Amino acid sequence: MNADARELAAGFDIEKLTPEFYDDPYPTYRALREHEPVKRLPNGSYFLTRYDDLVRAYKSTKVFSSDKKREFAPKYGNSLLYEHHTTSLVFNDPPAHTRVRRLIMGALSPRAIAGMEPDLVALVDRLLDGLAAKRDVELIEDFASAIPVQVIGNLLDVPVEEREPLRDWSLAILGALEPVIGSEVFARGNDAVKDFLAYLEILVERRRAKPGNPERDVLTRLIQGEDNGERLTARELLHNCIFLLNAGHETTTNLIGNGLVALSGSAAQKQRLIENPATIKTAIEEILRFESSNQLGNRMTTEPVELGGIKLVAGTPVTLCIGAANRDPLQFADPENLDVARTPNRHLAFGTGAHQCAGMALARLEGAIAISRFLGRFPDYALSAPPVRGGRVRFRGFLSVPCAVG
Ligand code: HEM
Repeated sequence: MNADARELAAGFDIEKLTPEFYDDPYPTYRALREHEPVKRLPNGSYFLTRYDDLVRAYKSTKVFSSDKKREFAPKYGNSLLYEHHTTSLVFNDPPAHTRVRRLIMGALSPRAIAGMEPDLVALVDRLLDGLAAKRDVELIEDFASAIPVQVIGNLLDVPVEEREPLRDWSLAILGALEPVIGSEVFARGNDAVKDFLAYLEILVERRRAKPGNPERDVLTRLIQGEDNGERLTARELLHNCIFLLNAGHETTTNLIGNGLVALSGSAAQKQRLIENPATIKTAIEEILRFESSNQLGNRMTTEPVELGGIKLVAGTPVTLCIGAANRDPLQFADPENLDVARTPNRHLAFGTGAHQCAGMALARLEGAIAISRFLGRFPDYALSAPPVRGGRVRFRGFLSVPCAVG
């Protein structure tokens, strides 16, 4: 076993992943954590799997930069996809990052999020009525993915009848962030940025002419800027709206989908949650830890730094493996098992430090309402065929989950 694990770690290459890995990356992550926690990959980048190393990288923003201009130039060339990703707040350092983040956070205050709850409950209940009428359902299409698209649409106040293309645009743009992409995935991502920009230009013009309530409407808030007059440029505004619309889609869909699949595979944990509905809060944290929907983060060193006895030179790309850190036994007891009541649970599913997920309170609320109300309505749900994985290493989730709810 040990020799196998050593071999697994030695042979790991993020650019050559196997179907077995996509299906279950955790044995590989364990092997890496145990044998090569600071792993040099053939392309010269490093892959980190230990919890403490990730926390250090996330918190040392000066040494581990989020700015991706250098890294993305060869991948995307002079394209809209390049312009989009390098203008998004998540891929920038201060001061560009700080300005946009402050504006976004203002519209995601606890009060603003609490105000979204009644609409969210109504939306989830409407979807559950639809599932009850069908009995044989598709959990992702009919339920998990239908929630975030409406929530983020509400956040930017996108008219309901205009929301349909948002999910496909978002999947295409985020798909192009996979470590290795072919020309088709690139073209799809690039076209999606083009179409998304064209749509948002119209939306922004309409909103400038008729502003919404900046307490609730992030788009109005981004357009109006801060009290001290600091505003985003037109390009910054559009690309950060796209990022916001994307950031909350696939990740939250996967939180709900991964949660319902994980619980269906663990009858005892599911029963525990059904019998103690108040456990939903810790259950959501555990699902985020156990099957983190965003498995990888990236940084670039700005100066020489030593990690786990290994010296990295300035300008080294580093991948932070959230999926591995969230199963580090030095941080989590019995990490390979789902425990809906786990406390403490300081998982890194939302990252940590200056870039920690700006939408985490909203994602938690969406996950809790979706999963608790689903279980309340369909305690005996069962998968009716093997679920189909999304086939991505960065965003872990399912494309389709056939399920019987009746
Ligand atoms: C389960 C759902 C979600 C997961 C797992 C998730 C995960 C993450 C992670 C790991 C980061 C940090 C990236 C880094 O440091 O490199 C991040 C950043 C971000 N997320 Fe989320 N996210 C989720 C939902 C959402 C939602 C619903 C929104 C919006 C409403 C959102 C908005 C953002 C934004 C704006 C950032 C960038 C923050 C910054 O750079 O300062 N996320 N997310």
